Amino acid sequence: MPICTWDIKYSVGIDEIDKQHQKLVLLLNTLYDAMKDEDGKAKLEHILNELVEYTDYHFKFEEELFERYSYMDKTAHIKEHNDLREKVIKFNNNIKAGQGVVTQEILKFLIDWLVRHILISDKEYSQHLS
Ligand SMILES: [Fe+2]
Ligand SMILES: [Fe+2]
Repeated sequence: MPICTWDIKYSVGIDEIDKQHQKLVLLLNTLYDAMKDEDGKAKLEHILNELVEYTDYHFKFEEELFERYSYMDKTAHIKEHNDLREKVIKFNNNIKAGQGVVTQEILKFLIDWLVRHILISDKEYSQHLS
């Protein structure tokens, strides 16, 4: 059972971005499955690395569009991205250093963050970026 399911209500009306959000949901579900099945540390680290890298790729993609379309509200949006970048990197480093584990609580935080960010902040830019 996935912990989070994509729904049309999450669409921001830009195909490429919807695809990237779907990939983030997929990575979070993969991480959840690995945690639940008590897969080894190496596998969890591998998925986490992918999540860190893909999150950064996705944020950069949005931020480049903000530049291209001179999006007025980009500063607050980029700050939200940077806050999460920082949290995910810290979380990943802790796991690598053996100072933490992937918990349902952390996953729930990441999913709630993503859903809220898409529904509020990402949806706000959709009419300005095309
Ligand atoms: Fe996004
Ligand atoms: Fe965003």
